[in-house]
Amino acid sequence: MEKLDKNIVWHNATITRAKREQLNQHRSIVLWFTGLSGAGKSTLAHAVEDRLHQLNCRTFVLDGDNVRHGLCGDLGFSDQDRRENIRRVAELAKLMLEAGVITLTAFISPFRAERDLARNLLTSDDFIEIHCACSLDVCEKRDVKGLYKKARQGEIANFTGISSPYERPENPELTIDTGSMSLDECVEQVLVLLKNRNVI
Ligand code: ADX
Repeated sequence: MEKLDKNIVWHNATITRAKREQLNQHRSIVLWFTGLSGAGKSTLAHAVEDRLHQLNCRTFVLDGDNVRHGLCGDLGFSDQDRRENIRRVAELAKLMLEAGVITLTAFISPFRAERDLARNLLTSDDFIEIHCACSLDVCEKRDVKGLYKKARQGEIANFTGISSPYERPENPELTIDTGSMSLDECVEQVLVLLKNRNVI
């Protein structure tokens, strides 16, 4: 990445995050869902969003498959491209935090270093790492998109869990057993955490 031009000066907004949060009647936060493909990150993020929306919260889900159609459409699945994918998403999530939005990100985000980069861009109050813990075996049996089968047949290179690593989070704020718990139970765990943190 190019270094920041010294002639570029930050412009302070008059409408601040605090003002937006006051208008919204809730604070903003980033919920960072990580886990294998098929672990249920997107399903859970959207189900949590649904519940938050019913509670009149302003929300947005950033989803790997969707973001890779646009903002990150130029990136593939090499280690380097995944790092750049997560860097962009982390910066975007930071902007959305300023926008006062409860932002839910659903990316494999397989590397600890990039998840930590996202964490370190924000303060500890603003970042919740949620590990959607589901064994490779279960993800592969689900194979909703048929990608594990293709990866096993060598039709997809660098596939997470098969030919590319997934580094499990060491200290996530929340680990959810998305392999055996019902969706409702998983959603409830996230909502309890948000209540305990006075987000909702
Ligand atoms: S990440 O590793 O950079 O965080 P991201 O979450 O954006 O990945 O995208 C993952 C999605 O891309 C998967 O759910 C799957 O549908 C699709 N995909 C395509 N190729 C691969 C691959 N080689 N490894 C993992 N997922 C892939």
